[in-house]
Amino acid sequence: MTTVLVAGGAGYIGTHTTVALVEKGFDVVCVDNYSNSSPEALKRVEQIIGKPVRAYEGDLRDEELLDQIFTENNIDWVIHFAGMKAVGESVEKPLEYYDNNVGGALVLLRSMRRHGVKKIIFSSSATVYGDPQTLPITEETPAAQATNPYGWTKVFEEQILTDLHRADPDWTVVLLRYFNPVGAHESGLIGEDPKGIPANLTPYVAKVAIGELDKVNVFGDDYNTADGTGVRDYIHVMDLAQGHVAAASNINKTGVYVYNLGTGHGYSVLEVIKAYEKAVGKAIPYVIQPRRDGDVASSYADASKAQHDLHWQARYTMDDMAATSMNWQQNNPHGYQK
Ligand code: NAD
Ligand code: WQD
Repeated sequence: MTTVLVAGGAGYIGTHTTVALVEKGFDVVCVDNYSNSSPEALKRVEQIIGKPVRAYEGDLRDEELLDQIFTENNIDWVIHFAGMKAVGESVEKPLEYYDNNVGGALVLLRSMRRHGVKKIIFSSSATVYGDPQTLPITEETPAAQATNPYGWTKVFEEQILTDLHRADPDWTVVLLRYFNPVGAHESGLIGEDPKGIPANLTPYVAKVAIGELDKVNVFGDDYNTADGTGVRDYIHVMDLAQGHVAAASNINKTGVYVYNLGTGHGYSVLEVIKAYEKAVGKAIPYVIQPRRDGDVASSYADASKAQHDLHWQARYTMDDMAATSMNWQQNNPHGYQK
């Protein structure tokens, strides 16, 4: 049986990926410091998969803990989700972001090397493309174009992993560049649980839909897009989870592999709001605000490389994303806090 260490396994994408891996027959071990999640999330995962998850509580920068994990488990692959991800916060706290994200990756990679584990799937982001000159975005679109410290941590981590493979070709490095993850597991037991007021569109819309927030602030309606609002490639989190399963299942040669994980379709802010209105059967109030600093007009993927190499394709629609997101939100208005 293939054993995967899921770093950041209690988080939004980590929980969904753990479910998908176990359902595909992988053995999973998690490590998380719960800085942006809670042990309850893993209890919910256990409820879905019907068996316990082996989980270690601790920080990726704790070298002793990582050595213990690699000693106690026969790990084949590592999936590295354990990063901080709030763009605005990263501008305020660059040192904390570089320390946690880049520092955490360095400790993890050193420990992997000591234990002869040389296969890693890394959570990268479309943010590495910055403001792309052409659409759709392919893996050949110039990367290393970040516009904030969070984005630079992704660029630097990609570079570190690429250099590591260059120095030791026994490594298998998979860089998955996610577009905009949305939605939740159909059970409604796990989902996105942001702390405080959400900075991202879809969790914000979900909270307006349940009446916790008044109205959606639409950041700009004067972009060069069909309805003037920003366009993004939203992808269902279970599709994203399956992308990791596909990578761990299909990549069996050493090397550096880069894949966009998106649907290939762009949706505007107003189209997203409409999908949520359909999911809840009522109007969702919104107000047009000025553009948000640093936003691009449009971003969507060409995801054909992942389809060709990994036999993976996004299956869920925007309506599925809105419906599962609302199912989670309505069943858990306070997230994992009871
Ligand atoms: P998340 O915050 O829900 O999950 C990250 C998990 O890692 C959390 O459970 C957190 O407690 C844990 N963690 C963070 N730092 C840690 C450390 N030093 N040691 C141990 N655990 C630590 O975020 P997510 O949305 O699931 O994102 C997962 C990864 O995917 C992140 O690296 C993120 O940058 C990347 N990503 C996310 C998105 C998105 O929009 N959600 C898009 C592109 C890329
Ligand atoms: C989507 C659209 C906004 C909030 C961010 C990170 C990126 C990646 C995914 C990790 C844009 C508009 C938003 C709101 C709005 N994360 N919007 N009102 O900015 O595409 O990507 O999350 O890697 O790195 O930058 O996502 O959800 O914030 O915005 O109108 O209250 O919604 O202007 O057009 P973004 P988002």
